[in-house]
Formats: sequence, structure tokens, C-alpha cells
Amino acid sequence: MEQTLIILKPDCIQRRLVGRIVKRFEDKGLTVAGMKLMHITKDLADRHYAPHKDKPFYPGLIEYITSGPVVVMVLSGAGVINMARKLMGKTFGFEAEPGTIRGDFGASKTYNLIHGSDAPESAETEIALYFQPNELLSYETPAHKWTFKPGES
Ligand code: RTP
Ligand code: MG
Repeated sequence: MEQTLIILKPDCIQRRLVGRIVKRFEDKGLTVAGMKLMHITKDLADRHYAPHKDKPFYPGLIEYITSGPVVVMVLSGAGVINMARKLMGKTFGFEAEPGTIRGDFGASKTYNLIHGSDAPESAETEIALYFQPNELLSYETPAHKWTFKPGES
């Protein structure tokens, strides 16, 4: 089953939005395979955001993501990477569509609430940075078969 790494960033925790944002993923029918509260170290932030290391916003991004506790989650489901990105909306709240997480809860060009992997390769790399394999659970709730029709592609 496809998986993606989601991070509820420090502003999300400080603004007490965790429950409302997790609910959006649950409402969509996506399964939480792993979840934990942690403080991202500078070293881990550097590894996660290595693809952005030459961008002008990089120092601010590292300062932001290490500034307080975050919730990291792995979501699973067919097509979960793109679905999660659509639920999140465009990178910054001031340009994200209403109805999306960033569009409904964010307005800043720095504090954008949430991270989601952007491709299967980055999802695999990012999940391995935050979770040991035995921290991820595979299970099916009763609603699953009415959320994803068995056998549909
Ligand atoms: P994310 O990786 O966090 O899910 O967000 P994204 O794909 O929408 O954005 P990406 O281009 O991957 O950028 C990663 C994070 O860097 C910060 N950023 N700041 N000041 C800027 O112009 C700027 N551009 C990007 C954001 O925190 C973004 O989420
Ligand atoms: Mg990205």
C-alpha cells in the first residue's frame, strides 16, 4: 500500500490544530500507519531538507522546523501521496484554496503548518528518516472496504 510522510509543523502544535488536521485525513478515509510527537534536531532537519540546501529560504526553514515539537505521521492508502498534497493545498496559506488545510488555517509565507512527501521516492526516503519499520502498523478498519472498493484501480 502506498505511504506518505506527513509532518504537522511547530506552528500547527502551538496553535493547537493537531486534532482538526488529523481529522481531515481520517475523514478522507486515509489510514494512520504511524504517529509520534518529537522535536526535530538540526541534523535530522538537514537530512530531510537536503534537496533545498542551496535555496535562499533554507536557513529560515531549518530554524522553523526545529523551533518546537512536531507530530510526524505515516499515512497509507491507494494514491495517498497525491491525495494528501491536495488536502494540504498550495505551499503557502495566502495562495492555497479555501477548503484545503493551508487555505483554511494558514496565511504566512513561513508558517505553513504541514509537510507532505511529494513523490514515492521522497516518501520512502523521508519515512526511513523518522520511523523504524516496526513502528509502522498495517491494519484495516471496517470502513475501509466502503472507502476503497476492493479490486478498483
Ligand atoms: P513541504 O515540502 O513542506 O510539504 O512543502 P511544499 O512541497 O509545498 O514546498 P517545497 O517547495 O518542498 O518547500 C519546502 C518548504 O520550504 C519552505 N519554503 N519557503 N520562503 C520561501 O520562498 C519558501 N519556499 C518554500 C516551506 O516551509 C515549504 O513547506
Ligand atoms: Mg516539498
